[in-house]
Amino acid sequence: MTQDTTPIADTPLPNGMSLTAARAEAERAYELDRRHVFHSWSAQRQLDPMTISAAQGCYVWDGAGHRLLDFSSQLVNTNIGHQHPKVVAAVQEQAAKLCTIAPQHVNAARSEAARLVAERTPGELNRIFFTNGGADAVEHAVRMARLHTGRTKVLARYRSYHGGTDLAVNLTGDPRRWPNDRGAAGVVHFHGPFRYRSQFHAESDAQECERALEHLEQTILLEGSETIAAIILESVPGTAGIMVPPPGYLAGVRELCDRYGIVFVADEVMSGFGRTGRWFAIEHAAESSSITGESGAVVPDLLTFAKGVNSGYVPLGGVAIAPHIAATFDDRVYPGGLTYSGHPLATAAAVATITAMAEERIVENAAEMGERVLGPGLRELAERHRCVGEVRGLGVFWALEMVRDKQTREPLVPFGGAATVLREVDAACRAAGLLLAVNANRLHIVPPCTISEAEAKEGLAILDEALTLADAHAA
Ligand SMILES: Cc1ncc(COP(=O)(O)O)c(C=O)c1O
Repeated sequence: MTQDTTPIADTPLPNGMSLTAARAEAERAYELDRRHVFHSWSAQRQLDPMTISAAQGCYVWDGAGHRLLDFSSQLVNTNIGHQHPKVVAAVQEQAAKLCTIAPQHVNAARSEAARLVAERTPGELNRIFFTNGGADAVEHAVRMARLHTGRTKVLARYRSYHGGTDLAVNLTGDPRRWPNDRGAAGVVHFHGPFRYRSQFHAESDAQECERALEHLEQTILLEGSETIAAIILESVPGTAGIMVPPPGYLAGVRELCDRYGIVFVADEVMSGFGRTGRWFAIEHAAESSSITGESGAVVPDLLTFAKGVNSGYVPLGGVAIAPHIAATFDDRVYPGGLTYSGHPLATAAAVATITAMAEERIVENAAEMGERVLGPGLRELAERHRCVGEVRGLGVFWALEMVRDKQTREPLVPFGGAATVLREVDAACRAAGLLLAVNANRLHIVPPCTISEAEAKEGLAILDEALTLADAHAA
């Protein structure tokens, strides 16, 4: 489906700018960007970044004024959609009231945000340490675990992403670690469950779960359990491929952590705040435990969050801390802090975001759209297109695993290779009015949690047509 995305000359953008003014601003912004801005994860000269002039709900407008449906949620953070009026108003009101205040003082926005986060985290994770984003949340979680246990080593999985700071990128299990790898960061990687590309030759989810847990326990024993401070895992690995763990896996990790006195850190930076159709992805483990006969919720010792907590309207992250870890620092100084911990603008945005998500049943919408529209729609695409090997996901958190051959499962892009074919698919989607995320060998379909059925179907139709480009490279 190619749609005409040509803007009408005098139509204003949703932010009130005329098209002419928006285009002039975009042109200058692009020129200055190329002269002065240094971009993340990129060879600077090779870049041709897209300008975004406006955004509203599930749509963004590029520098020429073309409207695109945002199936990327930017970096999977605009869970509440763009420019939600209640969040915008809360930031404006907080700016008028009190823009900034040092973290040693109490402020109303931070106190209320901490209460709202604590109310939603599983178990008794009731103490919140606010950070500026996800990577520093991970850094602090590991620091807390190391101080609490008096141990150094951290186990993290291959096929994971934990952030761009020094320790967080060393915890990461994707090729972005390689140029930053210190080898001496105290991190040991292990294989997590990933049925489609099983390391364990498993033929069922139950086998994959059992064997992945055996492998993790072997890793713990061979490394020396008394040397390991923490195991860090994304409850559903996001950037690395949206691999929903099999029933029983997270409960099994919890059990191994208890057995060996290891702190369990659940990284919910991407999977939290509605993305999987629950407030936190680890809640699915309680549902799956009824399948395995285990009982109850899986509660980590530390849970890191960012992105969806306020949809990134102002940078914010944090660590939710279990009572026994918090108690370590009752009479002992916690040696860490940030100038902007619990920044009033960021936490006011979190209060408004969480409140609006609850009032407007946005998490429930994400669950419903996943079950009723995106899941079935994407599976239908997989049946029609030979380039799609697997569809995985939950809520508004989906990946298409792209293959050269459905039988052999040979990836369309080799691990760490250049995703040229997928860039073509991406370009075709953009030309037809759809923004999605290309990641290694996958297309990630991660719209805001607010997406409507009509918008989801609009995106699926564009994707359907663009996938034919990749079909040409598949057997
Ligand atoms: C699971 C996970 N942890 C940590 C991070 C790092 O967050 P930030 O980019 O806010 O530092 C990310 C970012 O994508 C993430 O997905």
